[in-house]
Amino acid sequence: MKIRSGTSNAICGALLAAHCTSAIQLTITDANSIKTAASTAAHGMMSYYKGNITGGTPGLLPQPYYWWEGGAMWGSLIDYWSYTGDTTYNDIVSESLLFQVGPDDDFMPPNQTKSLGNDDQAFWGMAAMTAAEAGFPNPPSNQPQWLALAQAVFNTQAVRWDNSTCGGGLRWQIYSFNNGYNYKNSISQGGFFNIAARLGLYTKNGTYFDWANQMWDWTNAIGLISDSYQVFDGSDDTLNCTELNHIQWSYNTGIFLSGAAVMYNVTTGAEQAKWKTRVQGLITGANAFFYQGQGIMYEVACEPNNNCNTDQQSFKAYLLRWMTLTIKLAPWTHDILLPLIQTTATAAAKSCVGGSDGVTCGTKWYEGNWDGTYGVGQQMNAMEAFQALLVDQVGPPLSNSTGGSSQGNPSAGTGPSSVRKDKAGAGILTTLVLITILGGAWWMIA
Ligand SMILES: *[C@@H]1O[C@H](CO)[C@@H](O)[C@H](O)[C@H]1NC(C)=O
Ligand SMILES: *[C@@H]1O[C@H](CO)[C@@H](O)[C@H](O)[C@H]1NC(C)=O
Ligand SMILES: *[C@@H]1O[C@H](CO)[C@@H](O)[C@H](O)[C@H]1NC(C)=O
Ligand SMILES: *[C@@H]1O[C@H](CO)[C@@H](O)[C@H](O)[C@H]1NC(C)=O
Ligand SMILES: *[C@@H]1O[C@H](CO)[C@@H](O)[C@H](O)[C@H]1NC(C)=O
Ligand SMILES: *[C@@H]1O[C@H](CO)[C@@H](O)[C@H](O)[C@H]1NC(C)=O
Ligand SMILES: *[C@@H]1O[C@H](CO)[C@@H](O)[C@H](O)[C@H]1NC(C)=O
Repeated sequence: MKIRSGTSNAICGALLAAHCTSAIQLTITDANSIKTAASTAAHGMMSYYKGNITGGTPGLLPQPYYWWEGGAMWGSLIDYWSYTGDTTYNDIVSESLLFQVGPDDDFMPPNQTKSLGNDDQAFWGMAAMTAAEAGFPNPPSNQPQWLALAQAVFNTQAVRWDNSTCGGGLRWQIYSFNNGYNYKNSISQGGFFNIAARLGLYTKNGTYFDWANQMWDWTNAIGLISDSYQVFDGSDDTLNCTELNHIQWSYNTGIFLSGAAVMYNVTTGAEQAKWKTRVQGLITGANAFFYQGQGIMYEVACEPNNNCNTDQQSFKAYLLRWMTLTIKLAPWTHDILLPLIQTTATAAAKSCVGGSDGVTCGTKWYEGNWDGTYGVGQQMNAMEAFQALLVDQVGPPLSNSTGGSSQGNPSAGTGPSSVRKDKAGAGILTTLVLITILGGAWWMIA
């Protein structure tokens, strides 16, 4: 934890770079203003990254950030490049994603085993998927390719589908020795659902849509997606998922929302009407994440009580990211979601006036000022809010029939060593806390 020092001012004096403003000034109708704001937030975010200096590990954020958040951050920077055209971070993004693929090219590096859940792996896989969809520069041909990496994540997770409890679904953790192995949670289901739907859109291979349908149906049947489209956190499989942890996080809604928008886009007739109802329902469910009807996004489960942990500090970024994907694939949501992005981004900018650099972003956007907090999550949230304003200037996700050039491999990640590794066991225990205890909070509505 640190307040960033005067370094950036010194760099600013020398370079007059775009990020050198004294406070973020955001005019939501002015693309240059938006790009400057996003650049400023991105620069602040990347000031935490040390993986590119001597002795650092490419792709990793320093403690207290878990491995997954690096994957999430690289994904946000691919969108950053796609939305703003700023190539500043492209090389670091490529290097980082490729460094963390692991020996089987499936985003399972062995030295992350103790914090490697299906959701963690999915965040890296979704970054690769975004790279394919955005036409991010392809890696050299002797390196794994973006589409194949997303397929590898999909394939490794499909074989983890687990009918032994709860009638199916994915466990949170991959390894039985990790805490959370008995938890079937929405973000793990959502990651698989999201990647499956997007792989289907990109490749037109219907097998992916079959899996997306199976995942939605199971998640809904177990009640993690309620019939009123709240998305609850997870369920204990030792109770056969008969009880739910009803806490709601913004990213859970977002990950299903954007996947449902893909499914809406690729279906017709009655199927499409079904997915439209689901998209609409999740948008209504997302009202829980906008402060007192004012259109300003907030993390309802932790911001009011000032107890968002490091992971949770970044969740708004993903709901914002997935709202823009939703707008592109279900254009009828544009006039519902863009106003929310606009009020949210305007409020976020007012929080980016903190720290010694004067542009550090805080957590609570509904307070109209910097709230004294700082970190990768706060910067990423704000960056995603700003760049989301540019949604109308960016084309839809590419597919392999609309100019996408990423090379796939339908059997990526199914090699023998992946299977062996999944079955390996070692007595590593983690400090992961299974379920946040928040008994009786008002949003835990069954
Ligand atoms: C590492 O990346 C940061 C963020 O882009 C950059 O400011 C810094 O100069 C880089 N350091 C090296 C040694 O390349
Ligand atoms: C993990 O493994 C990679 C590849 O073997 C290595 O380069 C890296 O330094 C290791 N440590 C961490 C913290 O990732
Ligand atoms: C699990 O159940 C699903 C749905 O009933 C079925 O399609 C699938 O084949 C089963 N998978 C395994 C691995 O048994
Ligand atoms: C566990 O839950 C699944 C899905 O709801 C159900 O089909 C199955 O019968 C349950 N098993 C037991 C032992 O209750
Ligand atoms: C797109 O991918 C599908 C499935 O992998 C393949 O059958 C098709 O030939 C590809 N189309 C193009 C234009 O590459
Ligand atoms: C479609 O995807 C499935 C699941 O990964 C794969 O087994 C199959 O080979 C793919 N088909 C084609 C034509 O690429
Ligand atoms: C699917 O997405 C494309 C690309 O954004 C869009 O042009 C098209 O209208 C969408 N289809 C439907 C049915 O909304």
